[in-house]
Amino acid sequence: MIDLAGRRVLVTGGSRGIGAACCRLFAEAGAAVWVHYGHRREIAERVLEALPDVESGEHRLFGADLSEREQVDRLFAEVAEAWGALDCLVNNAGIWVRNELATLDDAKLDDTLQVNVNGVFWAAQRALPLMDASADPSIINISSTAGQRGEAFHSPYAASKGALIAVTKSWASELAPRIRVNSVAPGWVDTDMSAEAYRDGGREEIERTIPLGRVATADEIAGAVLFLASPLAASITGEILNVNGGSVLCG
Ligand SMILES: NC(=O)c1ccc[n+]([C@@H]2O[C@H](COP(=O)([O-])OP(=O)(O)OC[C@H]3O[C@@H](n4cnc5c(N)ncnc54)[C@H](OP(=O)(O)O)[C@@H]3O)[C@@H](O)[C@H]2O)c1
Repeated sequence: MIDLAGRRVLVTGGSRGIGAACCRLFAEAGAAVWVHYGHRREIAERVLEALPDVESGEHRLFGADLSEREQVDRLFAEVAEAWGALDCLVNNAGIWVRNELATLDDAKLDDTLQVNVNGVFWAAQRALPLMDASADPSIINISSTAGQRGEAFHSPYAASKGALIAVTKSWASELAPRIRVNSVAPGWVDTDMSAEAYRDGGREEIERTIPLGRVATADEIAGAVLFLASPLAASITGEILNVNGGSVLCG
């Protein structure tokens, strides 16, 4: 039902977890996909190789540390050279680092804000001119329930995701009517990022706090992203779409 044939989509952090699921769903819907990764090329290559061929163009791969402006510039220079245009940017890459206030680690604080916030600003800024020729350009930022209700011992992460919610709403009006800007706010998801928290009974404890009683799959988050990128969401901008099993009941 969702047909994205002819679209070109860049997914940051497309090599694993939610990003890899997004790459697969977008390609299955007919879009050409740019799989961005941070540091682990072999894993990203496996995602790229598994994508079905599409008529929209060739899928691509490029590594860039999003905490460095110059690497983000290089990523988008590659996209400009290879595709010359972009229909959708999914700002998905992120890091989740424990950093409690009493023993605040400045390097970790900087790192979290650089990757999760500055990297998103830089990517979106570079994507804008590439979206000029698109019929329905959109940006989708992956935030988190942490940005809505906070997260103990992870306040820098919560701050970064709260920032993405504010940024989504700001850009939605700033870039209207041309570019739609939305966010998907996942709760607990089954990926590498949260694997540690699920060990030793952690998963069961977490699942007891989720009204739907289970952690989401990466595909379930990707499905919401695909919807927001599609013509079905043509009237939606500035929205925070929760995919959290009912854990946080606000948009
Ligand atoms: N998992 C959850 O429970 C959960 C819940 C709420 C929100 N989220 C959010 O959802 C998004 C995806 O999470 P996930 O669970 O799929 O994460 P993940 O499995 O840990 O994957 C993270 C992705 O981001 C890339 N990345 C990390 N640091 C980077 C950097 N400095 N520069 C460029 N790329 C970098 C990684 O590439 P490399 O491996 O190559 O570095 C990888 O592709 C994140 O924004 C996360 O905050 C996740």
